[in-house]
Amino acid sequence: MAQLQRVRGTRDMLPEECQIFRKIEETALHTAQLSGFGEIDTPIFESTEVFHRTLGETSDVIHKETYTFTDRSGDSLTLRPEGTAGIARSFISEGMQQNLPLKFYYSGPMFRHERPQKGRYRQFHQIGVEVLGIDSAFADVEVIQLAQSLLEKIGLKDQFQLEINTLGDSTSRENYRQALVSYLAQYKDQLSADSQMRLEKNPLRILDSKIESDQKLLAGAPKLEDCLTPEAKKFFSEVILGLNQLKIKYLLNPRLVRGLDYYSHTVFEFTTTALGAQGTLLAGGRYDGLISMMGGPQTSGVGWAAGIERLAELALPHLQTTKNPSIALIGADEAGELKSLEAAQILRGKGYQTEILFSGNLGKKMKRANKIQAKWAMIIGEAELAANTITCKNLQTGEQTTLPFSSLASFEI
Ligand code: HAM
Repeated sequence: MAQLQRVRGTRDMLPEECQIFRKIEETALHTAQLSGFGEIDTPIFESTEVFHRTLGETSDVIHKETYTFTDRSGDSLTLRPEGTAGIARSFISEGMQQNLPLKFYYSGPMFRHERPQKGRYRQFHQIGVEVLGIDSAFADVEVIQLAQSLLEKIGLKDQFQLEINTLGDSTSRENYRQALVSYLAQYKDQLSADSQMRLEKNPLRILDSKIESDQKLLAGAPKLEDCLTPEAKKFFSEVILGLNQLKIKYLLNPRLVRGLDYYSHTVFEFTTTALGAQGTLLAGGRYDGLISMMGGPQTSGVGWAAGIERLAELALPHLQTTKNPSIALIGADEAGELKSLEAAQILRGKGYQTEILFSGNLGKKMKRANKIQAKWAMIIGEAELAANTITCKNLQTGEQTTLPFSSLASFEI
């Protein structure tokens, strides 16, 4: 029978990696809580419409990458490719507008049918934050500051670059759309097939094209910044003012448009050159039109999400903290092992990480105790059983004492 395999683009996370993930999540949650964010957990799957209406029919995520299926009731469901749309849906369905402003933190798995490569998976994990109901540009600054502070806390200082741009308000984008379409229409036949499709449906995304011939044509295209309304310009200048106030370094990148359609005004990415092709660690922006687009009340929003796999890859040297057990329990025979169960119960009750060694003879077990770098080996042999004692050997100093079993509860490591 053929061996069962992992599904392409998924990963099995073993204890060391889970530990790093947990550490990143804990650091993120703590950092977010310091800024007044509360945790939210929305379902892993939603009605397909939640994503189709919001992320953009022509975005890669919707066009090619969603895991969509019909369930046994005949409903079309989609595994969430990202967290923002589900939170917006939850905001509407739970009637949260009475409680604005709201600040949410989340973490969990996301699913995209992308071509797998290092740093890009079909099931991956994000941590993210969303601020709902604050119109001020300083909310954008606050979430960017939070992102930077998290990256620094997990040990990534000086390993990332903040890139930022504005997409303006809807009037700015409409002005720009017209300018861009009339420029690109002259070269329609020379554009790639994808870009030709986007020319009608979502021309701004052409700016994101990785195809060289598209990029050459774009060199002479009108610039979005020339089409911004005075209000959009003012908004972005306030974001920059806030970043300068906090001395947060940034790179203005007029090409940054992001892959999801719900953004307006500020968009940003924290990128690194240390991870090869998948260099975006964390990305986000403002999405003032999202909730109303989903049928909810007009509500502003700004937030970001980071891929935990990418953070873990980069932060690995700083976060590896495998904890060695404090105590290895060694029974010389089955009767000794039986007594070890009791000893372990007492020691674990005191909060000591305790490992019972079950396989091999006494010599093998001692070797194993050294291998797992336990601080203490506690031995229950025939003599100890007979005298109701336990022998405690400090594996770091070699010192050894034999204690009455009854005093184990007061043993200090
Ligand atoms: P996104 O840029 O699609 O934005 O994803 C955010 C981050 O998730 C990326 O920067 C990357 O680190 C990680 N990521 C995305 N796809 C993959 C993948 N296939 N494998 C591994 N990591 C991946 C969003 O998802 C928006 N919801 C962010 C946001 C929140 N905007 C406003 N609020």
